Amino acid sequence: MPYRYAIIGNPVSHSKSPAIHREFAREMGLSISYEHLLSPLDGFNQTVAAFRSAGRLPAAGANVTVPFKINAFNYATELTARALRGGAVNTLKFDGANILGDNTDGVGLYADIERNLAFKIAGARVLVMGAGGAVRGVLGNLWDASPALLAITNRTFIKAEDIAKQFNDAKSSSAGAGDSKEKIRVMALKELPAQQFDLIINATSASLAESLPLVPVASFAPGALAYDMMYGKGQTPFLMLASSAGARTADGLGMLVEQAAESFYVWHGLRPSTMPVLAMLRAQLAKI
Ligand code: ATR
Repeated sequence: MPYRYAIIGNPVSHSKSPAIHREFAREMGLSISYEHLLSPLDGFNQTVAAFRSAGRLPAAGANVTVPFKINAFNYATELTARALRGGAVNTLKFDGANILGDNTDGVGLYADIERNLAFKIAGARVLVMGAGGAVRGVLGNLWDASPALLAITNRTFIKAEDIAKQFNDAKSSSAGAGDSKEKIRVMALKELPAQQFDLIINATSASLAESLPLVPVASFAPGALAYDMMYGKGQTPFLMLASSAGARTADGLGMLVEQAAESFYVWHGLRPSTMPVLAMLRAQLAKI
């Protein structure tokens, strides 16, 4: 029997998740329904409850996007370790009364950087810009990939401090006594020019507003990769700046497809191929 899925957000109509999941399902020979679901800002729980109870087909899961990833974390009755680690959920799986909350963003970013872009995070100096929900989901996977340095910076410094503290405290309680590796480092924007990075990830929403996050050209090491979690028709302001600094650039379209593939696996236990879908989306973006 076909099952129902949705992407819940506000705004949500721009989301490519329905197209991606329908394409994955077609490849795998599954019949699913996957829709956009706009939730009122103060009505996330009611929206999910209505989605679960309505419709001819049983609701089996949902993806969750801005600004509801923390609401989804609180809504879940069971959380995976990777959702717990970041305190944010982008994938819900419904199983009777049980609601599993998972987060596939970090795996998606890791897969895009390491596999699709063939960049090795191990030993690299990595800077993450931003301190919102987008960062929470990905710090754990970046840390696990053994960078030489994992730094976080943000326009509002205290928010970066909070995230790093939460992450480092959790790490201390789970780490063995022999774990002496330096933890996530918080850096003020004014400290950045003195440090070079091999990978700089823009996880702020600044690209959406077409404004430029404050990263100095001097921060890009020779041969650095600049990764913007956002995507669009042309290059984002951050990627334009990175290009002018001689860095290699990548937008977040690959991460979007890879996190979707991981959600697909959580729901269906099947791994679709991501490259054809990525190529399809890239071609669509070029036509806009
Ligand atoms: P998300 O869940 O997508 O991460 P968010 O929680 O609203 O969204 O966080 C947005 C992030 O983008 C924050 O780190 C924000 O910086 P502040 O904490 O200082 O607000 C950052 N951001 C948004 N617009 C920005 C801009 N124009 N320049 C720099 N950073 C910006």
